[in-house]
Amino acid sequence: KDRYAVFGSPIKHSKSPRIHQLFAEQTQQSLEYTAEEVPADKFKESVDRFFSQGGKGLNCTLPLKELAWAYADHNTERANLSKAVNTLALQDDGSILGDNTDGCGLVADLNDNHDIFLKNSRILILGAGGATRGIIAPILEKSPQQLVIANRTSEKARDLAEGFRDWGKIIGCGFAEIQGHQFDLIINATSASLYDELPPLAENLLAEGGVCYDLAYGGKPTSFVRWGVSHKAQKSLDGLGMLVEQAAEAFFLWRGVRPKTKPVIERLNFARG
Ligand code: ATR
Repeated sequence: KDRYAVFGSPIKHSKSPRIHQLFAEQTQQSLEYTAEEVPADKFKESVDRFFSQGGKGLNCTLPLKELAWAYADHNTERANLSKAVNTLALQDDGSILGDNTDGCGLVADLNDNHDIFLKNSRILILGAGGATRGIIAPILEKSPQQLVIANRTSEKARDLAEGFRDWGKIIGCGFAEIQGHQFDLIINATSASLYDELPPLAENLLAEGGVCYDLAYGGKPTSFVRWGVSHKAQKSLDGLGMLVEQAAEAFFLWRGVRPKTKPVIERLNFARG
């Protein structure tokens, strides 16, 4: 059996082994996929060992995505733009390719699973960390009317936006500057949700018929998903669909077969009640 794994810390609650097992059954691929607790200071030796023992591909999650980008022998353009890698794949020539499937996973979840299209829409991303970096280019590719990155530390948002200036209309700012503006889609990419916190958000920030999307997910609705519901979002979604879609893209990179995501999303949604 070909071996794959996800590395990260913490990793105990990762849904990736289950997702890839379902993909493998569905597409009749023979593979094994495990989860390993790997802290940043053990990253290099753990990845070296995995591939030297015959591993074919890895997913890397927090806090390892930047390290994975630096580790790869070569990276896709989208991985280089985000300076972060969630998928490593052994190539025929023995080299390791890095890719980042997070952004296309998000766009696929919005477009294919929820009929939400980004062209000409006003989009706000909350947060300017690694999670935001991973999704900017695939969003700009869809030609939104406007993409605003708002962050607690406004310089970080401005620097990030500056780096993507050639890719589309993008502005970085602090939370105070988005007061009085409205958006059709608000994406939470801060880690605030994980602590059940929220950035400061004005009451009328979401346009009528607008959509909220939290990159985070959990057994219960996140604080940002609840914010969306209480502010009359047309839809208020968490990142479970994106998780499955980014996994499907990684699976395709490794196996050359594209699994169906809808039945897997349904299974996972059912499991969390
Ligand atoms: P990730 O790789 O998940 O994006 P990160 O690089 O540590 O993680 O970035 C976390 C993001 O969440 C940052 O944008 C951070 O804001 P700062 O840059 O100002 O630190 C944001 N964040 C974390 N906790 C927050 C909170 N309680 N309120 C608002 N923003 C928060």
